[in-house]
Amino acid sequence: MCGIVGYVGNRECAPILVDGLRRLEYRGYDSAGLAVHDGQRIHVVRAVGKLRMLEEALVGSPLLGTTGIGHTRWATHGRVSETNAHPHVAGEIAVIHNGIIENHLPLRARLVKAGAKIVSDTDTEIIAHLVDAQCRQGHSLEAAVRLALKEVEGAYAIAVIRQSEPQKVVVAKNASPLVLGLGEGESFCGSDIPAVLPYTRRVIIMEDGQMAVLTSDGIRVTTLDGTPVEPAVKTIDWSPAMAEKSGFKHFMLKEIHEQPRAIEDTLRGRLDRENGDIVPEEIGLSPELATSIERVVLLACGTSHHAAMVGRYYIESLARLPTVVELASEFRNREAVIGPNDLVIAISQSGETLDTLMAAKIAKQRGAKLLALVNVMGSAIARAADAELYTRAGPEIGVASTKCFTAQIAGLLMLAIYLGKRRGTLGKERAEALVEGLAHLPQQMRDVLTGTRQLVLSLARRYMDARDVLFLGRGTSYPIALEGALKLKEISYIHAEGYAAGEMKHGPIALIDPNVPVVVLVPRDEHRDKSMSNLQEAKARGGRILAVATEGDEEARSLSDELVEIPAALSELLPFLLVIPLQLFAYYVADLKGTDVDQPRNLAKTVTVE
Ligand code: M6R
Repeated sequence: MCGIVGYVGNRECAPILVDGLRRLEYRGYDSAGLAVHDGQRIHVVRAVGKLRMLEEALVGSPLLGTTGIGHTRWATHGRVSETNAHPHVAGEIAVIHNGIIENHLPLRARLVKAGAKIVSDTDTEIIAHLVDAQCRQGHSLEAAVRLALKEVEGAYAIAVIRQSEPQKVVVAKNASPLVLGLGEGESFCGSDIPAVLPYTRRVIIMEDGQMAVLTSDGIRVTTLDGTPVEPAVKTIDWSPAMAEKSGFKHFMLKEIHEQPRAIEDTLRGRLDRENGDIVPEEIGLSPELATSIERVVLLACGTSHHAAMVGRYYIESLARLPTVVELASEFRNREAVIGPNDLVIAISQSGETLDTLMAAKIAKQRGAKLLALVNVMGSAIARAADAELYTRAGPEIGVASTKCFTAQIAGLLMLAIYLGKRRGTLGKERAEALVEGLAHLPQQMRDVLTGTRQLVLSLARRYMDARDVLFLGRGTSYPIALEGALKLKEISYIHAEGYAAGEMKHGPIALIDPNVPVVVLVPRDEHRDKSMSNLQEAKARGGRILAVATEGDEEARSLSDELVEIPAALSELLPFLLVIPLQLFAYYVADLKGTDVDQPRNLAKTVTVE
């Protein structure tokens, strides 16, 4: 986790670094800090808490200079304190780091024995001392970083500056993300593309085992052992405005409203409406592979795992392939049986989630074909895979994932249609209906947004003080119930549980009483009647029923305390529509409670620790 940024050029760097950190703050917000070289010396300012605390500290102690580095922290080693905040300084050196140095304890013991004064509890400060020791042996900053990293084991993206080499930032990467930005007379680095996006769209996505020297004249990339590398320069088509709030109070609210656009972009050029099919070149799977695989394994965490659960319904029903869904964080704790006849799909917004990345690599080592369904171009999971299918949701900044969830299920539905057509399990008419349905989906999503917003806000006002909330669904509505509960708990801190509606009677029904709102998803699909029975069971035990049902369902209206309506749609498309009121409900409850919606406590957007 943690976000890092760096700048070298001719402009005052502190505002650029703070701006970059603002875009990276979703990665961690326990503390933040800058180190800026003023031409003579390096000056450091750090503050505990959100970035605004650092900004306040900078008002009192402004940092002037055109070379600098900045960090926003999600604490791993050492509690949240100013001493443990980055940048860490040793002698001439200041370092920022995202990752975990696994052998920091023996290195610390050795450095202390040699007389180093280590002041923090962090693994990062060890790097500063190692680099400083090499500089004191007479090495340049670049050589010192290279030699220091030979001793280090673990994950890192680091940026280092040195007092006696004022116009230079040296960076290196292993297993943590690092992007370099090429400007005119200036160079940038950041943990993610949005950090550099307002300044340049020309980026280098660094590979593991590489380092680079950034100056105002450009960027020189080498391997860690010094071999020159000719890196690929990518031009990013995300616009800087995509990483702004655009008038919305929070990124999460903006991203909820961006979903129709995100789906349009994710579908663009991939639907073959004439033939009721998916364009083969766009999907990342050859027809041979589509017909030869015997099983699909979906790997993901959190919200992406809920998308995987929806995807399983699609793939089993349309392509008739056995499909398993794995929590990537648990996959590695088993001796999972996986092999060359499996197609493994690793699903991740960030493409950097360590649990998903490691699980995907294990599956690949065991011979499975690996497809990455990710949002961030060139991310670690995309690079590890045999093929990529990008969701084109644009940068997602709110910690609670929303637009990437619906973009992921759009990707999975396209994959299922593609597989079903190739495998002969999906008939022409159904395929045509699905492709047409997908084409019209963005407009239906817009209708749900405008049609439910006010009502959901009033429900949020009515139920914001609930202590527990249950979410029930059946079929594809079950993962949507799980997702509704996850959204509510992660941003409003209300205890919420999602259950398969049919499971209620096996235990959870004991939880229901008049103080427990029960959100029941009863859209008109093949499961609606059974779910209505579950709704009535919950009502009979005194639960307050908030139903989400298809327009015109009078029975649902008469049996519920509150009713949110969505338009009629093919059952495969209902998850896209059902999830919107649940996202809005979580958002409005959290906002009314005054929590930090975009940066909820204890969380980080990208989880790069196990
Ligand atoms: O970047 P990923 O999709 O791999 O992230 C997986 C989870 O960490 C993520 O979905 C998390 O659960 C979100 N905070 C949920 O809103």
